[in-house]
This record gives sequence, structure tokens and C-alpha cells, in this order.
Amino acid sequence: MSAEGGTPAFESSTFSAESFFATQPPPPDLEKSVVSVREFVARQIRERRRVVLITSGGTTVPLELNVVRFLDNFSAGTRGATSAEYFLDAGYAVIFMHRQFSLQPYSRHYSHSTNPFLDLLEIHSESSSSGARSSHITVTPSKEADLVEVLSRYKQVHAKGILHTLTFVTVNDYLWLLRSVSHELSRMGRRSMYYLAAAVSDFFLPRQKMSEHKIQSGKGSLHIEMDQVPKVLRSMVSEWSSGGFVVSFKLETDSALIIPKARAALERYGHQVVIGNELHNRKYQVVFVTPSEAGFSETWLRINPETHPITASLHHVKEIEEDIVAELVRRHDDWLGSSTE
Ligand code: PMT
Repeated sequence: MSAEGGTPAFESSTFSAESFFATQPPPPDLEKSVVSVREFVARQIRERRRVVLITSGGTTVPLELNVVRFLDNFSAGTRGATSAEYFLDAGYAVIFMHRQFSLQPYSRHYSHSTNPFLDLLEIHSESSSSGARSSHITVTPSKEADLVEVLSRYKQVHAKGILHTLTFVTVNDYLWLLRSVSHELSRMGRRSMYYLAAAVSDFFLPRQKMSEHKIQSGKGSLHIEMDQVPKVLRSMVSEWSSGGFVVSFKLETDSALIIPKARAALERYGHQVVIGNELHNRKYQVVFVTPSEAGFSETWLRINPETHPITASLHHVKEIEEDIVAELVRRHDDWLGSSTE
């Protein structure tokens, strides 16, 4: 990268997972997050619940140490946040590892862009006999039933202690957190599930190559040479997850690439399911690709787009995540049933 401020000599273009963790620093609050996950997992083991780790939202790649500019990965967090609710309904405890400020279970129904919080409220002003004015707020009557439904589900989940939330911003935060959380969850073995819906950066700038201060403009074009982010799915399957049920996603904009790429991922990493989706119809159609005796098998799940308007917010509107989660729970059951554990 051409940037002011000088950069220490540092050679690397391909990082393995090991060299990544040996050279890139952990996020400052990692240990605190690990302790909280350890306690959460221990409680779920005592209470004999399965746990799913859901990753959700996009990771960023900062271009400076004092970060002003960064590259972002597309994902609103809808897939992850919606799926979390259906996993909770199915009796799983959920570790929800998401990009800071992306959508979260339950509060997603009141996203500021589709259903702003202030639109739920009404102000009532009164004057007393002494002339003093007072105001109070109520929920708009037409919105009350939906709010009661979402709020009671949210309160029940929190009272039971079955939803644990963690946040990441950068790809560095994400990888460190994913490795540490997977280690903690590995105590659950095959009863754990990993549902990797986050959109993870493919390229990054190692800390040693980053400019300390804001990159200055005025010297023509900026050339940045980025390194490849290690594909951690291999380590996840063979080392970190200790036999858990691993589901990865494959997002493409060219639908012809989905199945070949999903098959290649299964061959390379040896996990249980790849869910393929195409950018423009991902809310209505996905494909489950799995290894089978004949090589691979593909199962398409589809819902009618008309039953899922873009502004849909509550569970009485059909969401494809309901079918994705039902299918995964069934496959996880079968897989556990077929194990010798
Ligand atoms: O949040 P929404 O707006 O609803 O969008 C949801 C989604 C489209 C982002 C989601 O459904 C989805 O497809 N997520 C995966 C996006 C993707 O294709 O990621 P990828 O190609 O970078 O990675 C493929 C898989 O490999 C992922 O499951 C990832 O966990 C894994 N991976 C990625 C990078 C990396 N360094 N190591 C990995 O193991």
C-alpha cells in the first residue's frame, strides 16, 4: 500500500490460520467474551439444551490503525437474526455473534428503516385545573398486538437465559472471536451446531502493513495490496468444533456458480451442509447441498415472494428462515441419531 507514515517491513501474502493468529492481535475484550460464553455453555449443558452458534452480518477491513476508512462486506444481518428466533423456538440455545449495529433477534421487527420505533408511539397531553400541562405516551393501538407478541417472546427468551449476544466489527475481531467461541462450544461435541451466515471479508490488510494515521489524499491514485484472509472453515471442522454440525453459506450473484462452489467447499472442508443463496432472491429460495453416497445431494427450499413482502416484520408472515431452520433441526436430529456417541 502506498501510504504516508512509514510501514514496518513485513512479508506475507498468504496467511494460514496459524500464521494469522500468530501475527494479528486479538481484540482487547476477547477474554471477557470467552468467560461469558464459557458460563453460558456450561449452563446449557447442565440444562441439556443443544446450542447453535450463529454468525451474522458483514465484517470490515480497516485501512488505517486510527481508522477513518474501511472496506465493508454486504449483509444486513437479516438471515442470522431471523434464524436465531426460529432456533430458539425449536428449543436450541443461541450464541448470536453479530456485526455491531446489524439486525438482532426480536428487535429486528422494529428496524429503524422498516418500522421506526417512534412511529409506534403516541403523545397525550392534558391540562390540569391549575393550568399545568402534562404529557404521557402510549403505544399506537393498531401496533399494540404485534408489539405485545414480540416483546413477550423477547422477555421469555431472556428470562430463560438462552440467548447470548457477542459483537464484532473487523474481520480480525471476527476470526479471533470465532475461534475462541468454537473452542468453548466444542465441549458440547456433536450436540452443537455452527451456522455461519456472516459475510466474511476475503482480503485484509495485516496490522503490520497498515498506515498509522489517516491516509492522505492529493498524491494521485491509491494502491492497496491486500492479503488473503485464511479460510478458517478447515480449522473449524478439523480442530475447533470437535465434531459439531457445521453449516456454511455460499452467496453468489451468478446462480450458475452456487452448486459447483458449494460442492467444492464440502469436498475441501468436509463439513455437513452448505446453504447456497443468490443475492437477489435469497429471501425466497435457497439450496441445501450435502455429501451423499452418490456424491452430493441438493434440496431446494422455496417460498412464494408474495407471502414475504420486503417490509414484512412479524412471524405470521412467511419467512424462508422458518423452513431453513426446520430442515436443519431435522438433519441435526438424524445426524445425532446415526452417531455412535
Ligand atoms: O444478512 P442478509 O442481508 O440477510 O444476507 C445474508 C447473506 C446473503 C450474507 C447470507 O445468507 C450468506 O450467504 N452468508 C455467507 C456469505 C458468503 O458467501 O461468504 P463467503 O463466501 O465469504 O464464505 C463462505 C463460507 O466460508 C461462509 O460460511 C464463511 O463462514 C466461511 N469462511 C469465509 C471466510 C473465511 N475466511 N473463512 C471461512 O471459513
